[in-house]
Amino acid sequence: MKKISLNIDKALGKAVTLEKVNALESKINQSLATLHKGDGAGNDFLGWLHLPSSITDADLKEIEETAAVLRSKCEVVVVIGIGGSYLGTKAVVEALNNSFDWLHTDRKNPVLVYAGHNIGEDYLYELTEILKGKQFGLINISKSGTTTEPALAFRILKKQLEETVGKAEAKHRIVAVTDHAKGALRKLATQEGYKTFVIPDNVGGRFSVLTPVGLLPIAVAGINIRDLVAGAVSLEKATDESIPFKENIASVYAAIRNILYAEGKKIEILANFHPKLHYIGEWWKQLYGESEGKENKGIFPASVDFTTDLHSMGQWIQDGERIIFETVISVENPDHKLTIPTDEANLDGLNFLAGKRVDEVNKMAELGTQLAHVDGGVPNIKITLPEVSAYFIGQLFYFFEKACGISGYTLGVNPFDQPGVEAYKKNMFALLNKPGYEKESEAIKAKL
Ligand code: PA5
Repeated sequence: MKKISLNIDKALGKAVTLEKVNALESKINQSLATLHKGDGAGNDFLGWLHLPSSITDADLKEIEETAAVLRSKCEVVVVIGIGGSYLGTKAVVEALNNSFDWLHTDRKNPVLVYAGHNIGEDYLYELTEILKGKQFGLINISKSGTTTEPALAFRILKKQLEETVGKAEAKHRIVAVTDHAKGALRKLATQEGYKTFVIPDNVGGRFSVLTPVGLLPIAVAGINIRDLVAGAVSLEKATDESIPFKENIASVYAAIRNILYAEGKKIEILANFHPKLHYIGEWWKQLYGESEGKENKGIFPASVDFTTDLHSMGQWIQDGERIIFETVISVENPDHKLTIPTDEANLDGLNFLAGKRVDEVNKMAELGTQLAHVDGGVPNIKITLPEVSAYFIGQLFYFFEKACGISGYTLGVNPFDQPGVEAYKKNMFALLNKPGYEKESEAIKAKL
């Protein structure tokens, strides 16, 4: 079976040499060994490491059965969650669903919409309005079970659902995915009698896409979660500790990123030439941003959709400050064929493209961009996906997770905590006079 591949040739140059990459081998191997031994920082959050291969048929069946209930009852399923509790789902669903899914009248799958990932009043209002008269259900996902954004959205949507279908039926349309014991959501789910799934203690939010956090809503969307898991299993094997450095794409990616960073490349831009991969970029930003951005260190992860953003950010990338490198997700084969027609009048002058597939033009845009950016001093890493399918996205997820663990340890940070996320929460609670925050309230108000 094919695999995603990595090419770092165009990231190499005068400062970033193959010798430097090879010289980092023993440090990278150490980081990999630390991950596998489980004796590094944050080692109580290593559940993702062997997660793919530990998912059983019974686990998948339970998820598929619950998804089938929601699919049979609902036209719309609202996925409530923030950060790691929704980005993986959105990345897979956007990548694999038809881009114009919501316009299809003969839909076989419920539409997934998202809530609890912002506190926008207009967003929530418009969501409650569009749900009126629709058969809907809720998947409420929160590892801690105490995050404000999803809790707020759930309170509003639960009320709406209960008022629409009655409390008894609402119970069958609500599923909670949370900790096995801790948190307000667990308590609420137990009291209300919702179907629940557990997020393992040792899997952090941004590493949780292959737990029910991602698998349940992805299955509701009608996507084959077995293929997704199988892809991840294959990369779990391909990036194992026993794989030599040069053949281990997670190790090589971690190595080149760390070398580029040490050479002053402080920003990594993840680029795609397939707009359906936009949310893969969003998921990746959370994974790397939260894992590495600490102790005043870490590459800033950014993302762009090409060729769209070549007409905006392209200028900066080509000619701005030389502190960036680019990682391109390249897709070998699109799903569909579309050929450019001949036009007799040729008023647009495009007849030189007639008979070619749109993807041929896209591929030349990709190659042209790579060469231009490399010439402009932007090192280029290329990750190739044979096609956009659940299997290869499963591979991509695991590849990025594994490389993130190795890269974080090599950088010298704990890649599995996120202490910085608490700062805004503390201030928000203080400003909102949350009980228990009296001292903080006084202190913050004095600053205003
Ligand atoms: O990676 C993380 O742990 C976080 O970004 C979480 O995913 C996010 O904060 C949501 O947390 P929770 O699932 O506990 O509501």
